[in-house]
Amino acid sequence: MAAQPSTIIEAKDVDFYYPGGEDADSPALSGINLTVNQGEYVALVGPNGSGKTTFLKLLNALLIPTHGQVLVKGISTAVESTLPEVRRVCGMIFQNPDNQLVATTVEEDIAFGLENLALPPEEIRNRVFKTAALLGLEKLLSQPPHLLSGGEKQRVAIAGVLVMEPECILMDEPTAMLDPAGRRDVLNTVRELNRNRNIAVIHVTHFPEEAAGTDRVVILNEGKLAADGASAEVMTDLQFLHGLGLQGTTAVELAALLRQDSFPLPPQILYNRELVDSLCSLGQNS
Ligand SMILES: Nc1ncnc2c1ncn2[C@@H]1O[C@H](COP(=O)(O)OP(=O)(O)O)[C@@H](O)[C@H]1O
Ligand SMILES: [Mg+2]
Repeated sequence: MAAQPSTIIEAKDVDFYYPGGEDADSPALSGINLTVNQGEYVALVGPNGSGKTTFLKLLNALLIPTHGQVLVKGISTAVESTLPEVRRVCGMIFQNPDNQLVATTVEEDIAFGLENLALPPEEIRNRVFKTAALLGLEKLLSQPPHLLSGGEKQRVAIAGVLVMEPECILMDEPTAMLDPAGRRDVLNTVRELNRNRNIAVIHVTHFPEEAAGTDRVVILNEGKLAADGASAEVMTDLQFLHGLGLQGTTAVELAALLRQDSFPLPPQILYNRELVDSLCSLGQNS
């Protein structure tokens, strides 16, 4: 029998209220129960203000639940003495890399988190070089981060998290500020880390194509869990997505219109390639 994957994150009956928030009576999150296992790639999707960023901050112990518990590898985020371990296990990447890159060179930036661990300087250098090589950043180590492209900056931010040997990477709309090449660059980097190193990823995104490319999609709406399922199922349920003001992928949206016009397309079309192949085979059969 295959070994059970180990649990990285467990949210148990989590409510979160912002102190002194605009509407102190309504929680930013309520009744959240969610488990994420080692090596899973989860997209976290939802309308603006649905609580996605708040949830990631709870997983990284930047916020502590008002009620309930968040456990990271079984450790409660509410315990101050174990915060460094929680933050090592769950590293966070933000939307704007400019807010995350703080040092004067790429090398110093990647080393930043390690400096607090009281490691010998030689060990720090070794780990920084190994991580930079893994992410194809070795030629940029002496560069000031502000001279890099958006995609490169985001890869440096990922390196700064990866050097801490995390078991889960939390990403809050990491590609929102990037051009298409930068987006592809960052997504490929993260997918490889997920596959090759079995690092779990929780990826907040507004892009349906990005959500469709993950293993599992979790949807938040008004602070509550609205869906949690296989990406191919959640992202093809257009009625449900539209009901929340969300969209399917381009192929899902187009296939729905074509079906309304009596094109007999199969139900599970997710990607452009699948739509084109289905249309071509219809054309050949007619
Ligand atoms: N610092 C804050 N103080 C008070 N309320 C906040 C704060 N940050 C977010 N909120 C509120 O919490 C809810 C969830 O916000 P957020 O987690 O940022 O949503 P999302 O990332 O899905 O857009 C929203 O209603 C938002 O207005
Ligand atoms: Mg947000």
